[in-house]
Amino acid sequence: MSLLKVNFLGKELDNPFILASAPPTKDLESIIKGYKAGWAGVITKSVCENPLIDKTPRIAHIKYKGKIIASQNYEMGSIHEPEYWVSTVNEIKELYPDKLLYISLFGSQEVSEWINTARIFKNTKTDGFELNFSCPHADHEGKGYVIGQKPDLCSELTRAVKSVLVDDKKIIVKLTNSSYPNEGYIASKCIEAGADGISGINTIAGLCEINIDTLKPELNTGGMTTYGGMSGEIIRPFARASIANICKSIDYDKHQVSAMGGVSSDNNAMIEYILLGATTIQVCTEVMNKGYQVINDLIKNLESYLNRQGTVLKEIKGRGLDSITDWFSLNNIKRISKVDYDKCTKCYTCLSFCNYDAITKDEVGIIINDDECDGCGSCVSACNSNALKMIPKSQ
Ligand SMILES: Cc1cc2nc3c(=O)[nH]c(=O)nc-3n(C[C@H](O)[C@H](O)[C@H](O)COP(=O)(O)O)c2cc1C
Repeated sequence: MSLLKVNFLGKELDNPFILASAPPTKDLESIIKGYKAGWAGVITKSVCENPLIDKTPRIAHIKYKGKIIASQNYEMGSIHEPEYWVSTVNEIKELYPDKLLYISLFGSQEVSEWINTARIFKNTKTDGFELNFSCPHADHEGKGYVIGQKPDLCSELTRAVKSVLVDDKKIIVKLTNSSYPNEGYIASKCIEAGADGISGINTIAGLCEINIDTLKPELNTGGMTTYGGMSGEIIRPFARASIANICKSIDYDKHQVSAMGGVSSDNNAMIEYILLGATTIQVCTEVMNKGYQVINDLIKNLESYLNRQGTVLKEIKGRGLDSITDWFSLNNIKRISKVDYDKCTKCYTCLSFCNYDAITKDEVGIIINDDECDGCGSCVSACNSNALKMIPKSQ
């Protein structure tokens, strides 16, 4: 376990895994279940000045070949009053002082509203706050990701909440991929305004599947649907881009980053986010679909990766960032695809992936015409047996 210890914004944690703001953190009982299972921290379900209501149903899953690849929801913030959360947070902190606990705040574009909500919580025992500038389905009220796409407003609201806080309470700002490519700039504006760290990403705006037989949306509330937030496996590439953008724009050792988006016990997302500069990892959909105990697999997988590499978390943090640059800085060496006949299984998958008619086949196997090969790399990526690679084109 000690292999996974991290310090997140001054708090020592047994492991980097935090329950993201969502149903698994919706009330006192849920949070206690999470801590008991071994989660090192919790971000509460987003709390508003006035409690929100829920539509039923509001959550659905998108399956591909029988496997859930994404979830979608149009759930709002907490249905509980701030007063419920004041007593809940204090009670939980009495029981679990060493675990991380942040209250997620949510609100309109009115500075006074954020100040009022922060004042309600300023004397609680919370370690800090996560400002939700990123929920994609509160746009009708100008909340969430509408705020998160306005750098000056993000900065103003962060400064306002910070001005209310006493003690050593921390602020992290939860950002949206919908501000791409400005997440980094927005993160740096929030840090300037007093944020201690950054988290992201929230769900990404989407629309559920339309059933082509019934002509109805698969997720509907009394026959009607609305735009919601996509989460889980499918959002990983977008989360990677946002985390990289953010970590390239701030001092991610000082103003630490808590990354999320599709983390699962079946994939490498948690390790990728640490390589991109994150210090802690938040998880939502995986816990909603598999239960709190999934923490055991996440811990086991991360430990075995570190043991295999003979390294520790702080050594790998940010190591993936140096290979990410802008398009103009990529080199212009002309490359083409080359086949290794010892590895080629003659499945001929590559033929349909070549858009330049550079690959043909005969009795030996595939033949690549060097003059026709454009060097796009698509066939190399599609190859099932690692038999293709890119080599510099000889002049
Ligand atoms: C049903 C549901 C409710 C959520 N509610 C909140 C919320 O209240 N506040 C918030 O900041 N994020 C909320 N989220 C977003 C998650 O915290 C997380 O950012 C997102 O789901 C991406 O992580 P994941 O792929 O691990 O699920 C919610 C997500 C889901 C699926």
